[in-house]
Amino acid sequence: MGKTVYMPDSTLSRKSHISSMAQYLDMYKSSIDTPEEFWGDIAKQFHWETPASPNKFFSYNFDITKGPIHIKWMEGATTNICYNLLDRNVKSGLGDKIAFYWEGNDPDDYSRLTYRKLLEEVCRFANVLKSKGVTKGDRVAIYMPMILEVIIAILACSRIGAVHTIVFAGFSADSFAERMLDSKCKVVVTTDGVWRGQKLLCLKEICDSALERCKKLGHEVETCIVIEHLPRLSASQNRNGITEENGDISPEKRNAFGSKIPWTEGRDVWWHEEMEDASTSCYPVWVGAEDPLFMLYTSGSTGKPKGVLHTTAGYLLYAASTFKYVFDYRPGDVYWCTADVGWITGHTYVVYGPLANGATSVLFEGTPFHPDNDRYWLIVDKYRVNQFYTAPTALRALMKFGDEPVKKHSLSTLQVLGSVGEPINPEAWHWYYKIIGHEKCSIVDTFWQTETGGHVITPLPGCTPMKPGSATLPFFGVLPVLLDENGKEILGPGEGYLVFRRPWPGIMRTLFANHERFETTYFKKFPGYYCTGDGAHRDEDGYLWVTGRVDDMLNVSGHLLSTAEVESTLSAHPSIAEAAVVSQAHPIKGECLYCFVTPNEDVEFSEKLTDELKRKVREKIGPFATPEVIQHAPGLPKTRSGKIMRRILRKVAQNDRDIGDISTLADEGIIEILFQNRIEIK
Ligand code: PRX
Repeated sequence: MGKTVYMPDSTLSRKSHISSMAQYLDMYKSSIDTPEEFWGDIAKQFHWETPASPNKFFSYNFDITKGPIHIKWMEGATTNICYNLLDRNVKSGLGDKIAFYWEGNDPDDYSRLTYRKLLEEVCRFANVLKSKGVTKGDRVAIYMPMILEVIIAILACSRIGAVHTIVFAGFSADSFAERMLDSKCKVVVTTDGVWRGQKLLCLKEICDSALERCKKLGHEVETCIVIEHLPRLSASQNRNGITEENGDISPEKRNAFGSKIPWTEGRDVWWHEEMEDASTSCYPVWVGAEDPLFMLYTSGSTGKPKGVLHTTAGYLLYAASTFKYVFDYRPGDVYWCTADVGWITGHTYVVYGPLANGATSVLFEGTPFHPDNDRYWLIVDKYRVNQFYTAPTALRALMKFGDEPVKKHSLSTLQVLGSVGEPINPEAWHWYYKIIGHEKCSIVDTFWQTETGGHVITPLPGCTPMKPGSATLPFFGVLPVLLDENGKEILGPGEGYLVFRRPWPGIMRTLFANHERFETTYFKKFPGYYCTGDGAHRDEDGYLWVTGRVDDMLNVSGHLLSTAEVESTLSAHPSIAEAAVVSQAHPIKGECLYCFVTPNEDVEFSEKLTDELKRKVREKIGPFATPEVIQHAPGLPKTRSGKIMRRILRKVAQNDRDIGDISTLADEGIIEILFQNRIEIK
């Protein structure tokens, strides 16, 4: 596996924060041997209203057999993360520095925001939230596209100690409602709509259905704050939507344009009207180091999303330090992460990490394909981007168009190229390295999770020799271990469950309102370790190669989904008796959903039914979860005790006749039928 090793470019190494493996190993050792000192030093650059008690800097229990799991960093300290990201930077002279260049979906739409202006806007919105009764600990849901207001809304929450819960704006009304209900949010912030490429998404409409559903299920959100985004877009973007020749736009969608959007008096208010008289100063609320900062839902293998909860001090230290070292960010650089703020990557590496370092970032609203397939590279040149962070699925989708769209641009400013969300296949890695990076950039293949808060296994650009497809070595403070099925540590080369022996500052603290599920999901299988749910291989150099999920989760275009979630949506259809879903390799998405459905006795399997089922998943979960294949299964392979043998279904999906032991199978006859009905992925 991966014999070729690529060394970091020597010019890059010379100016890097960490320029040799010796330096990395030295720092790593002190992060493990003396974590209090290591993180205590990093904490010194930030403002603490009350310092941490020296003897309580770090405490934890990872062993469920010894008592409840807990993780605490900097106990006793108080601070405010927004103060550290904005006021601290303005005070140190960065007021006029650009915090964000905003690039709209349409290339004619762009703007920028300095640190000083961002602070003022954040204070104004924090005052708006306060006027709506939001106080420390209250949850605020955010359902927004990649516009500057989303950053303002996030930081306004943290300024007053409110807990933001962002729901990716690609989630359906049902998924959004489920998350609002679980988090019991008081206020929601949304946008009238947004253009994604050629497509208009009417976010306020979706938000309204979600609010309606949430109310029916017993939770009423008090206020919905709406940003008027569409009317201010460039004429060319608007023309796309409102001219008569655009037959795609339905009358309802056209109504979403401008102020004719659905409105509930008493609940809905316009952002711009509320902001008009709001003061530009707002004293920060000092919160405890372990007070919640945000929660973010991630898929759970039972199908019910988990509200991953992150707290304040540790997350700040970890977001700041991983950003600085993993992207090797230096003052004056321009950084761009293409992830949506609705995912953890957007939280840590669009918002918190960059701002904690006083960085200048690009915030992009659109897609890599609009108006042309060279949009990413155009933006890299336009803003002279130095660090670029994206997902393998985006790279694979762009590789399809060949090298020409890339070669139109110089890309000469690039130094570090990041990858996140799934293992990067060597072909995409080489394309990234050669065609995008001109063989002089370091590729940082960052392994982490919503739960880990920040990168945990990753190369560092100036020092780590790279192997295509390997996330390489642990970040500071992280102790990875591979375990076999019996929980025995695998020392040296081998493959096993990827777990961590000890908490680093950025790890989640609990699942919102469900500490028991937190303990069961992550700490029960192997007492004493945090269990990632991924498998990994360690090679003879100690490099880690993440092999993918070992549970019933799958990763579609970098979005984590549970097969149970999709199965329950399919089997809820009145024509379906039973459904089973497995993951299947996909050339662009990495993995995709291969579904087997058994219709009811009197129902005929048809294209119409397939379309309906796909639509149902889209509506229930979101478009990114749309199944690739729905195969007719007159029956499912089951054990005599009635358990579906997904292992066999995986073999059918892969067209692999080597199905192994079937002695526990109740009806062997079904296997041949399933192979005959198999559908090839295009
Ligand atoms: O399976 C791993 C995969 O994505 C999962 C985490 O998904 P999520 O919580 O949505 O966070 C994604 C962004 C951090 C992991 O359990 N994963 C993420 N990054 C990598 C990866 N697998 C291999 N290599 C990576 N670099």
